[in-house]
Amino acid sequence: MTTLLERLKAIVGPGGWSTDSADLEPHLTEWRGIYRGRTLVRLMPRSTDEVSAIVTACAEEGVAIVPQGGNTGMCGGAVPDTSGRQVVLSLGRMNRVRNVDALNFSMEVDAGCILAHAQDAAKQAGRYLPLSIGAEGTCQIGGNIATNAGGMNVGRYGTARALVLGLEVVLADGTVLNSLRSLRKDTAGYDLKQLFVGSEGTLGIITAASLRLFPDPGALSTALLGIESAGKAVDLLGNLKVALDDRIESFELVSQRVFGLVTRFIADASLPFQIEYPWYVLIDTATGGDEQVLENALAAAAASGLLVDAVIAKNDREAAELWRLRHSISEAERQDGKALKHDISVPLSRMQEFLARGDERLAELRADAKLVAFGHVGDGNLHYNVVLPRDLSDPEWAAEGERVSRGIYDLVQELGGSFSAEHGVGQAKRSWLREYRGGPELELMQQLKKTLDPSNILNPGKVI
Ligand code: FAD
Ligand code: MLT
Ligand code: ZN
Repeated sequence: MTTLLERLKAIVGPGGWSTDSADLEPHLTEWRGIYRGRTLVRLMPRSTDEVSAIVTACAEEGVAIVPQGGNTGMCGGAVPDTSGRQVVLSLGRMNRVRNVDALNFSMEVDAGCILAHAQDAAKQAGRYLPLSIGAEGTCQIGGNIATNAGGMNVGRYGTARALVLGLEVVLADGTVLNSLRSLRKDTAGYDLKQLFVGSEGTLGIITAASLRLFPDPGALSTALLGIESAGKAVDLLGNLKVALDDRIESFELVSQRVFGLVTRFIADASLPFQIEYPWYVLIDTATGGDEQVLENALAAAAASGLLVDAVIAKNDREAAELWRLRHSISEAERQDGKALKHDISVPLSRMQEFLARGDERLAELRADAKLVAFGHVGDGNLHYNVVLPRDLSDPEWAAEGERVSRGIYDLVQELGGSFSAEHGVGQAKRSWLREYRGGPELELMQQLKKTLDPSNILNPGKVI
C-alpha cells in the first residue's frame, strides 16, 4: 500500500520534496518568528499538473496543504500548524514569466515568480507592473495575489486585486480552474478569479496569473518632505494631487520616531536634513524627471504652510537612498522588538480625524505606550503600530495588547475603516475578523469556504 508520503514524493520527483530539518527551518516560521509549525513534507512542484496531483492525493487522504510563496507574509498565513501532519506546498520552482504582451498591456507569470522579476520583465518590454512592496525581492506573485498585497503605489494603481486580469487555480479536489484570460471586459457570469484574490490559500492554490500592465511612467522625481503634523499630510496630498495632475506614484508618511528606529538599527541610514521634523512624507512623482515641476508644486505647498522642508533627489542614487530609509522600516521595527501591528485603513476624508482621535485614544488606553506610525497614507492605509512597555510579562502583553488593539480597531470601525488593510488576516487576525466582520459577511465567507473546500484541507486555521 503506497503511503501518501511515497505518492507525493513520486509526483514531484527527487528534487521536489524535502523532509530535511535544516531545509525546512525557514519554511516553518515566518518573518517575525511569532508563528512556528511542523510539516509532514515540503513539496516544490514544477507544474500545475503536479500541484493538481498533489492536491488530489491529499484530498483523498484528508491531509491539509499550506501553500507558501516567499513566506514574507505578516500574519502567519503561510506557516503550518504544530501537528506535523500538514504539507507545505512551495510554489517557488514555478517561477517563469510565461509571456509579456506589450500590445495588450498584460503579462502572464507562474505563481512562484518573484515580484521583482516580474517587474523587470515588464520593464524590459517597455511596460510597468506597479505592484511595489518592501519584500519585492522575495515575495512571489501567487502570494501577492493571495494576500491582495498593497504597497507603495496603490493610490494610483490599486492593490494586487486591481492588477489581476486572470488566474489559474487548483481547487480543493485537484481540479484546475483556468481563468487565465487577459481581457479588460469579460462579463460572463460570476467573476470567479476575484474569489481567490485575498483568500490567503484557503479557497484554492494560485498557479499562474495574467496581470495588467501600464505604460512605463518614465523617470520619477523623488522627494523627502519635513511636515509639522500628520494631519497636514492629508491636506498636502490633496494639494499635490491637484498641482501635479494626479501624477503621484507614492505618498508615504513616516513619523520621526520611526525614522529614528531606522537610523538607530540600520547601517549607514541617515536623513538628509540638519534638523528633525515630527513627520515626513516620501513621494515619488511621475514628472518625467522634470524636477522643476515638482519643485514648483512643493514651493507652492510650502507657501500654504503644508510643508516646512524638502529634499528633492538629484539622481537615481539619491532617490534609492531615500527609499532605502522607507523600505528599512520593517527590519528596524523588528529589531526594536515586539510591536502591536495595526495595519489599518480609513477613508482619506477621515484620516485626519483618525490621527487626532487615535492619539487621544492611545493616551487614554496606555499613556506609556509608544506610537510607531508610518505607511501608505496616499491610499488611506496606515501602519499604526504600538509598542507597549518592555517590562510587561508575556501574559500582560497579550491581555494589554488585545485591549489596546480593540480600542484602536473600534475607532477605525467607527470611521468606516478596516482593521486589515493590506496584510490580510492569516492566523494573526482571525478573532478580529469575527469581531469586525461578523454577521452576514462572515457567514457568506464561511459558506464559500464550505462550498469550495468542504474537507477544509486548504490552509485550515487561517482567515476564517
Ligand atoms: P507568503 O507569505 O508565502 O504567503 C502569504 C499567504 O498567501 C499565505 O496565507 C499563503 O498560504 C498564501 N499563498 C502564498 N502563495 C500562494 C499561492 N500560490 N496560492 C494560494 N495561496 C498562496 N505587504 C503589503 O501588502 N504591503 C507592503 O508594503 C508590504 N511590505 C512588506 C515589507 C517587508 C519587509 C515584509 C517582510 C513584508 C511586507 N509585506 C507587505 C507583507 C508580504 O510581503 C505580502 O503579504 C506578500 O504579498 C506576501 O507574499 P509571499 O509570496 O511572501 O506570500
Ligand atoms: C510596509 O508598509 O513597510 C509593510 O507593510 C511592512 C510593515 O508593515 O512592516
Ligand atoms: Zn505596508
